[in-house]
Amino acid sequence: MIGCGAGLPDRVVGNQELASRVDSSDEWIVQRTGIHSRYIAGEGQTTSDLAVLAANAALAYANMPAERVDLIVLATTTPDHTFPATAVKVQARLGITKGIAFDIQAVCSGFIYALAVADNFIRLGQARVALVIGADTFSRILDWEDRTTCVLFGDGAGAVVLEAGEGQGSVADRGVLSSHLHADGRHYQALWVDGGPSTTKTVGHVRMNGQEVFRHAVTRLSEVATEALVANGIDATQLDWLVPHQANLRIIESTAKKLRLPVGRAVVTVDHHGNTSAASIPLALTEAVTDGRIQPGHLLLMEAMGGGFTWGSALVRW
Ligand SMILES: CC(C)(COP(=O)(O)OP(=O)(O)OC[C@H]1O[C@@H](n2cnc3c(N)ncnc32)[C@H](O)[C@@H]1OP(=O)(O)O)[C@@H](O)C(=O)NCCC(=O)NCCS
Repeated sequence: MIGCGAGLPDRVVGNQELASRVDSSDEWIVQRTGIHSRYIAGEGQTTSDLAVLAANAALAYANMPAERVDLIVLATTTPDHTFPATAVKVQARLGITKGIAFDIQAVCSGFIYALAVADNFIRLGQARVALVIGADTFSRILDWEDRTTCVLFGDGAGAVVLEAGEGQGSVADRGVLSSHLHADGRHYQALWVDGGPSTTKTVGHVRMNGQEVFRHAVTRLSEVATEALVANGIDATQLDWLVPHQANLRIIESTAKKLRLPVGRAVVTVDHHGNTSAASIPLALTEAVTDGRIQPGHLLLMEAMGGGFTWGSALVRW
């Protein structure tokens, strides 16, 4: 994993502004979620706009010319259009005219799913340089009158660049060491959008049973984090950073606690990003790499859970 980058809208929306629109308060939002503010895309600003910002930043960090990218996997729940994939729009805007580009849909687990897919393409020799992007504009599918969901999400994009390289097959290697994916569709309507091309022919709005999501998140995330540790024969004390999906500070604290990791070793951005769905992990990674917390060689555990339910983890040596 040789580069990372972020793409955020200009507009910051604080809790106070939301509390003037729905029956809520800064105090309630901060206490229950840890969120103080989030970024909201401007009029006409799309998921692909944010994705291109993140991709260009990640390519620049990696010093990688765009034409060497032969795979783009873009995780999103809020594509520019129902089809084609937002990935091909991003591909064209980066000036890339060959290779593979497609979207995947695993909601808030999207980045982990995309990372696993790209890593497997590389391991099989079907790609050498991959851009993995998580990009979402959840503001477009929120019901802005529903206080139980509209305060939780924000817009943004994050990207990483993967390049094929030989390792020793040990935990000392750099890059993606392992990934672990799960899904259980019985929970389809615990967190979903009540519209779609083949049902209502509309885009729909986010609907959520917050308590059910919360309950599953605290269990599944510590399970899948432990799965990554066991698969690599390490324990949590060997981790430098937990880079979790940013849905709720209480969920992040609970996962860290279950792993017996000091909460200070979790990268937290939910306070100023809100839940940016597929973008949250690469955004958190980019922030901690940029401010120097994450150093080359550091061992990172990424984990996420989202609608479906889907959930997953990846162990990465930066
Ligand atoms: C959404 C969440 C923050 C709600 O917190 P909670 O402690 O479970 O709160 P509850 O749902 O029990 O609601 C408690 C009360 O607050 C109210 N409430 C809900 N949203 C509110 C808001 N924005 N402002 C003020 N009050 C609110 C509820 O209506 C309820 O009122 P009632 O007791 O009069 O019925 C929490 O369930 C959560 O984080 N769930 C996971 C969500 C998530 O991570 N989703 C994305 C996964 S990728």
